[in-house]
Amino acid sequence: MRIIVLGAAAGGGFPQWNCGCPGCRRARAGEARPCTQSSLAVSADGERWVLLNASPDLRQQIQATPALHPRGLRHSPIGAVVLTNADVDHVAGLLDLREGHAFTLYASPDVLGVLAGNSLFGVLNPDLVSRRPLAPGAMADLAFPDGPAGLSLEMFSVPGKVALYLEGEAPVLDAEAGHTVGLDLRQGGRRLLYVPGCARLTDGLLNRLHGADVVFFDGTVWTDTEMRDAGVGGKTGRRMGHLPIGGPDGSLAGLAGLRAGRRIYIHINNTNPILLDDSRERAALAAAGWEVAADGLEITL
Ligand code: MLT
Ligand code: MN
Ligand code: ZN
Repeated sequence: MRIIVLGAAAGGGFPQWNCGCPGCRRARAGEARPCTQSSLAVSADGERWVLLNASPDLRQQIQATPALHPRGLRHSPIGAVVLTNADVDHVAGLLDLREGHAFTLYASPDVLGVLAGNSLFGVLNPDLVSRRPLAPGAMADLAFPDGPAGLSLEMFSVPGKVALYLEGEAPVLDAEAGHTVGLDLRQGGRRLLYVPGCARLTDGLLNRLHGADVVFFDGTVWTDTEMRDAGVGGKTGRRMGHLPIGGPDGSLAGLAGLRAGRRIYIHINNTNPILLDDSRERAALAAAGWEVAADGLEITL
């Protein structure tokens, strides 16, 4: 299995267009590596690829990734897209894939329902793009329009909330309801676990992550209040459906016993100090055996 990090950042990217926080300023100054928004590409054979989420930066990500370039007059190695939720940073890139290319689109019934309710996604010609619901908990062999992808996938519900634009008055922030899922991808005995959004750790989630060859996990914020503390917004990480990394209730402590080949934080907000190579938080992660995703990071399992 080949894995390429297309985008390591959370929604907004790093630097975010309208943000002047210290990290974003350092990214603009060339003192920190910029990151595009949240997505992975995965392939069983290095020829045909599955996108895990389609970010608003997808066009730029394809441009930066030779494995995803066309190999014919009209061609793309992208044969399928899998979504983990309906957030803008995970679905807006679908609109970049509208130019007459056939692929299979997988998501939970909830997330496909959101797309079906939004006529903009009608630009994906149904004769070319088949939308296939995957029920969380069911194992499926992924398929391209013309044959098997060589990967099997189980989606699993992860505590989270509905997309920001669907929030009502008082959204439930950590329901395990199918609008936020993790992906358990397998090829032979190899396992990739991808959980870019998680509001709360559960025993079921911990059990699932154990034994994976690589785990990509929600690294949105280091502290729950860091956006407020930086003066860039009132929301906490938990209000956005993301548990923090640091602190006694954070994912670093909660996942301390996790046995996995590689453990990598991804979906990182621009206020998170782990984006800065010289931060003490970054050093703390490294000391605990965690990596920080970067655009272009490649892993072969
Ligand atoms: C999130 O991960 O919380 C969302 O992507 C936020 C957003 O919609 O911008
Ligand atoms: Mn997001
Ligand atoms: Zn910023």
